[in-house]
Amino acid sequence: MELRYGLVAFLAVTTAVFATPLLNELPPGKEWPERLSVKQPYEPEIPTESPEYYSTFSSDLSFDEKPSENINEILPALNEKVENIEVADRITPPVTNVEKSETINGNLPNVNDKADQKRETNEFQKDLLGAAKDAEKENKVNYSGAQVWKVSTEKSGVRTLLGRLRRRNLIATWSGNHSYVDVFVKPHAVENVTRAFKRENIEYDIVIDDLQKRIDEENPPLDQNEIELQDRRGHRMTWKQYHRLEDIHGFLDYLAKTYPAIISVRSIGKSFEGRDLKVLRISNGQPSNKAVFIDGGIHAREWISPATVTYFINQFAENFDDEEDDIRNIDWYFLPVVNPDGYEYTHTADRLWRKNRKPAVGRQCAGTDLNRNFGYRWGGKGASANPCSDIFRGNRMFSEPESKALADFIKNTAANFTAYLTYHSYGQYILYPWGYDNVVPPDHQSLDEVGKSMADAIKETGGSKYTVGSSSGVLYPAAGGSDDWAKGQGIKYTFTIELGDTGQYGFILPTSHIVPVAKESLAGLRVLARYVNKY
Ligand code: ARG
Ligand code: ZN
Repeated sequence: MELRYGLVAFLAVTTAVFATPLLNELPPGKEWPERLSVKQPYEPEIPTESPEYYSTFSSDLSFDEKPSENINEILPALNEKVENIEVADRITPPVTNVEKSETINGNLPNVNDKADQKRETNEFQKDLLGAAKDAEKENKVNYSGAQVWKVSTEKSGVRTLLGRLRRRNLIATWSGNHSYVDVFVKPHAVENVTRAFKRENIEYDIVIDDLQKRIDEENPPLDQNEIELQDRRGHRMTWKQYHRLEDIHGFLDYLAKTYPAIISVRSIGKSFEGRDLKVLRISNGQPSNKAVFIDGGIHAREWISPATVTYFINQFAENFDDEEDDIRNIDWYFLPVVNPDGYEYTHTADRLWRKNRKPAVGRQCAGTDLNRNFGYRWGGKGASANPCSDIFRGNRMFSEPESKALADFIKNTAANFTAYLTYHSYGQYILYPWGYDNVVPPDHQSLDEVGKSMADAIKETGGSKYTVGSSSGVLYPAAGGSDDWAKGQGIKYTFTIELGDTGQYGFILPTSHIVPVAKESLAGLRVLARYVNKY
């Protein structure tokens, strides 16, 4: 008896001694508010996670999607890539580089002369590097001979033909609107597709005539000076290269360590393959602040997106004291890579991978389109039930750890989210809800106004023209997007931003474009911050 009281007293005292000072020592802005400590801005009147939809579609895995003559329905269907099972199937790309270098190292020639040795070692290392690169290339999907065509869809019959070619698995569509599409033509199909276009007298422009060449030139290694700079800076992030996840995470951790008074990093969950979903928070700790959530990299191959989001982070973090009040008085939450498994996969195995990497149950194909997996009107138009499709919606809403973690985080923090921005590429659009069908929310006029002011600022800063509109209206209906879900949660300013370019390079945007694209986008973000503070 006595012993038990003693223990309770001991625990109470230690808790008080250790927990209280810890709590008090949290620097302002460090605490991440949990839900219920503060009420959400307003509860949605809009029905989220509509039950009719759920029950109709959740168990429906029929693969035969009805052919439709409606333009808006055909476009997303064209995006499907029911393709190379051997590629889609591979979960972990084979790693042979390490083994290779070890074997060769064991055979190092015995050289007496020091200079000779040095020279030989250098050359030897170059060989090694070359060998490693070759091995890496061998393990990757090769897009030699694949092309991208710009095709006007004004003429009747074009969409029908594209639909046919897509079903025969010869093409995929990358981007487009009501008047044109970018058509990705598979290497083995170029001849056939050309013949089909000629036969029907359909014109096209070859925008990219060898995709692999573009891929090879897209992301060259940094030069020696840059590498030395990296080592001195304390993190490896630059905006001169598309970096691996490790560099991006290292950068976030570095900022949290360097600016503990305003910055903290937290993993809000793990991807299917176990990678962290790291959110960085910047805040001056003022309780009256509104909050903004920004994410990137929902789609693996859209490399400009994480690059741009990290650029924002860098600007705010490194210059916080000199930033304008509209920036300083917002609690910023950034998740630069929502789909880390897919992102890494585009670096190691298939540059054009879009989805996450969770294998489908009992199927050969892997991956769910995270931007079709969110629980608002899930399973509606422009989303596929076929696990091999590039727009596979998943087996049920929030079936994927990445989309689930993102939604849970937004729901479970009491941060006063007034804006949700999700960065994609490409096409240069600023899109507001709804995405699930060609309808708009009651406040669409104010969304349109904000979108247009953002586009104006972008134009003024970097010269790029961004088209503003509802995503279903401007592009095509596509249900299950993160934007619709966020809007359904009552987040006022919700936008999907499709970064550059408009198709000259598409997803394979050379690194020299990173800073210009990110810089002009930042001008747009500053405009948004103004509206958020005014709201
Ligand atoms: N390119 C994006 C996609 O297809 C656009 C998403 C727009 N939002 C939406 N809910 N449809 O995923
Ligand atoms: Zn995207």
